[in-house]
Amino acid sequence: MKLLTCIGARPQFIKAATVSRAVSAYNDVHEVIVHTGQHYDVNMSDVFFEELSIPKPDHHLALGGGNHGEMTGRMLGALEAVMIEEKPDMVLVYGDTNSTLAGALAAVKLHLPVAHVEAGLRSFNRRMPEEINRILTDHASDILFVPTKTALKNLEQEGLPEDRVHFVGDVMYDAALFYRALARSPAFFSQKGVEDGNFILATIHRAENTDDPKRLAAILCGLGRAGRCVVLPLHPRTRQRIKELGIAMPASMLVTEPVSYLEMVWLEAHAAVIATDSGGVQKEAFFHETPCVTMRDETEWVELVEAGWNRLVGADENRIVEALNSNVEQQHRSAIYGAGDASNRIVELIRRGAASRPDRGLKA
Ligand code: UD1
Ligand code: UDP
Repeated sequence: MKLLTCIGARPQFIKAATVSRAVSAYNDVHEVIVHTGQHYDVNMSDVFFEELSIPKPDHHLALGGGNHGEMTGRMLGALEAVMIEEKPDMVLVYGDTNSTLAGALAAVKLHLPVAHVEAGLRSFNRRMPEEINRILTDHASDILFVPTKTALKNLEQEGLPEDRVHFVGDVMYDAALFYRALARSPAFFSQKGVEDGNFILATIHRAENTDDPKRLAAILCGLGRAGRCVVLPLHPRTRQRIKELGIAMPASMLVTEPVSYLEMVWLEAHAAVIATDSGGVQKEAFFHETPCVTMRDETEWVELVEAGWNRLVGADENRIVEALNSNVEQQHRSAIYGAGDASNRIVELIRRGAASRPDRGLKA
């Protein structure tokens, strides 16, 4: 079978790395990788392909930048052309970005079956661009790979047919297990004299935080007052906003370019605490057993909050400072994200799914 994988943003490269490795174990699956170009800087894209040995994209569409509607529209047209040319048996999309939605929409309009990795997540905040992308992608998909029991329940509540939905666990857990031994400290770490185990690792990039000057300022002030060195690998969206708003960064912050995945894993495992608004980083904090403070009003990864591993503090300066300085009692660790075999299970189900749909596709 021919599987067309559509990716475009940083977290999707990391998710696709483990699934592509699982695909390569089968002679009967030929994967065609399409990179939309949503993320395009070397440290937001190329570094992951090199470091994680992801096969080079067969098509690179270079469609990053611009407003979300326009970006998604450009991707939709270009992906349709690639799908018509490649005639895949199935299209695989990941997560909740504009690249995910464009890939799923282009495929269903050509009657191609769609498989969605990381289906069923909901923040119940419809102002988040990701929430709309997730809902639409889930409802357009034929095979939904679900990472958590909560996601399973969400899809059930939305009436998605049971036979489309598969709880497989989280591919990011597979990645954490596989790459943990390869993690390495970034070069700047020892040069800048940051103390191992005594720093806060922070990431900020959510539109709801970066595009609201009050929230962004409160987050940066909270981090600045936390009383430890803050290592902040800065997302380009956030860098741009900070520059536009002329915000002066607190002296306790070590602001760097985005780091590679293996460097990020090392920082996550060696930080005293993580402060983030990233979906992936919340889970990685749990995988690498570092307490997490999430600077959002809600999260899709509710299990971690319920289990006490993650604390939701919004963009409230005082709550951020307080949470970063309070001790977290070590809680019971359960297998929330499956058994670390999500990627293999996904590939097995894709092969079975393609075999049961000989009537679909563009080859006739
Ligand atoms: C996107 C996803 C978000 C995901 C995040 C991962 C959507 C709606 N959002 O958000 O769900 O969590 O990626 O990081 O798809 N930029 C660069 N260089 C790059 C990439 C981006 O300079 O390599 C700048 C550009 O100015 C761009 C801005 O960042 O306009 C935002 O990028 P965009 O892809 O629109 O959204 P993200 O905030 O990255
Ligand atoms: N990440 C990285 N370098 C960084 C920041 C994040 O490699 O400088 C990785 C992180 O380890 C995780 C993924 O990027 O695997 C999360 O992506 P991001 O926070 O951009 O998006 P989200 O998960 O919120 O969609």
